[in-house]
Amino acid sequence: MCGIMGYVGNKEAVPVIVEGLKKLEYRGYDSAGVAIYNNGSFEVIKRKGRLTVLEEALSKRAPSGHMGIGHTRWATHGEPSNENSHPHLGEKEKIAIVHNGIIENHRQLREKLERKGVSFTSETDSEVIAQLAEYYYRGNILETVIKVVNTLEGSFALGVMCLDEPRLIAVRKDNPLIIGEARDGMYLASDVPAILKHTSQVYYLEDKEIAVLDRSGVEFFNMDGEPVSKSPETVAWSADSAEKGGYQHFMLKEIMEQPKVLRMTIDSALCDGGKNKAVIDSIDIRSYNKIIITGCGSAYHAGVVAKYVFESLCGLSAEVELASELRYRNPLIDGQTLVIFISQSGETADTIAAVREAKRRGAATLSIVNVVGSTIAKETDYVLYTLAGPEIAVATTKAFSAQLVLLYILAARFAQDLGALTGGGGTLAEVSALPDMVESLLADTGKIQQFAATCVGYKSIFFIGRNVDYAISLEGSLKLKEISYIHSEAYAGGELKHGPISLIEPDTLVVAISCCQRLAPKIASNVEQVISRGAKALVIGCCTDYEEGVGDKLSAIKFARINELFSPSLSVIILQLFSYYVAANKGLDIDKPRNLAKSVTVE
Ligand code: F6R
Repeated sequence: MCGIMGYVGNKEAVPVIVEGLKKLEYRGYDSAGVAIYNNGSFEVIKRKGRLTVLEEALSKRAPSGHMGIGHTRWATHGEPSNENSHPHLGEKEKIAIVHNGIIENHRQLREKLERKGVSFTSETDSEVIAQLAEYYYRGNILETVIKVVNTLEGSFALGVMCLDEPRLIAVRKDNPLIIGEARDGMYLASDVPAILKHTSQVYYLEDKEIAVLDRSGVEFFNMDGEPVSKSPETVAWSADSAEKGGYQHFMLKEIMEQPKVLRMTIDSALCDGGKNKAVIDSIDIRSYNKIIITGCGSAYHAGVVAKYVFESLCGLSAEVELASELRYRNPLIDGQTLVIFISQSGETADTIAAVREAKRRGAATLSIVNVVGSTIAKETDYVLYTLAGPEIAVATTKAFSAQLVLLYILAARFAQDLGALTGGGGTLAEVSALPDMVESLLADTGKIQQFAATCVGYKSIFFIGRNVDYAISLEGSLKLKEISYIHSEAYAGGELKHGPISLIEPDTLVVAISCCQRLAPKIASNVEQVISRGAKALVIGCCTDYEEGVGDKLSAIKFARINELFSPSLSVIILQLFSYYVAANKGLDIDKPRNLAKSVTVE
């Protein structure tokens, strides 16, 4: 939520910052702005709307200067408007800030400053930071920032500039911030893709650390102003991986990258020398009597699939719960519980809170994350990395698929250790076959494209399945609604008759997943029931007798037979393509769906 970009160095700051903000736009796109330091003053240009609106303004009059901060906003306090856009200046225009996060005591601070005569120009919680900094400033910006952040309650990643001391100050608490080091200057960003074009040398700012950047380097301090020593890490992602590479949308590019991503992730978990393998080998599952899996959105859906897989392969109780629920419950978690946290970004606020709650209760914590150096990766006992590379489209695809394969491998390894799986090699071989199977599905997208073209007019689409097919229906439904804005719901097939069937009428579509042989007749009955009530149906899967093709009432897309436990990795490819092509036919902004941001760092 909200992207921060900053630069100080030899180059003109505006193009560097705008280029970086483009890579961060997935974090919010309600408004954008820059503040550039030049010859003792700040020039601030900010605009409501997408980054292109700001770019247009900058094309008419781009401020010149070699140091600046920029921001792309996901509105929380105050509607999207020019005034509420960042950067914010203090009243005397001496201090400029950009903020990602939420200041919970902003009202009290604002009232206090207003009583002292300070007048505000926006409705945001963030402006209070700039006003407070100016109010406290006595000639030392580092001391001022320390004083300000000790007054703030809530979460923040901040970029700060002060006219009297031309340096960039960065500070983080519960929101990500990285520093990039290059010959031509120093970079500050919310996420790695923003700086990949310039450097692979990155410092990950820890919670409550401050960085002071000038064109020759960076120094780090703690909240007491004491120096902290840090070394840069080399980022493995290439600059190309954050580009569209000829595809119309990042989402399609990321869907197509899945065979490669799955191969790399599986190799790392199975091959000797693989980092994920070393972590899996170090976990003694016999120390635990229960597994709890948690995450938000799609990550939670990967957990729902995993529940079936863990219980089926390991014979071990596995619960799955939304992180936003788990964190506020009184969960039965203790030292004998292994809690698995799934998160692409590693920065989702609810999942971080759940990590902290589980640790407080003495559980062992294992995370599956995509972003190295992220908060969840840092705070959990064991970390498995999905090797998906940067995922830019807001709707997750390749990271989700990589989460699934790591969960399968984890379950198979646990099952071997528990003696529940003999001949585990065969099971792992089935997982290893997935990348090729995904590749052949992606080689022919004609039928799903043809079918999706007929779906633009639907008001409501239902997804049904049983067992793992139900788990993956949840993901299919979320994917569709978030990028196509068509209302959709997922139901366990057996639940249809308990209520949802009353919504079935001629202008509804039911997508049924059928990959579990023993449940295929049940799903077929569900399909017949909805068709006889006027709905149209699409059946996806490897266990169905329906003939493949796009028909008037009934269509079917089939793929090769596979162990049902791992079939979600194939069904999801069809579901992702379906959502993508429906949204593409509607001409929507697929990579940046309305109201959404990729990294949900606020509650
Ligand atoms: C849906 C989607 C979201 C995320 C959710 C969790 O396509 O991307 O539902 O899965 O916001 O995000 P992470 O995985 O970063 O914790």
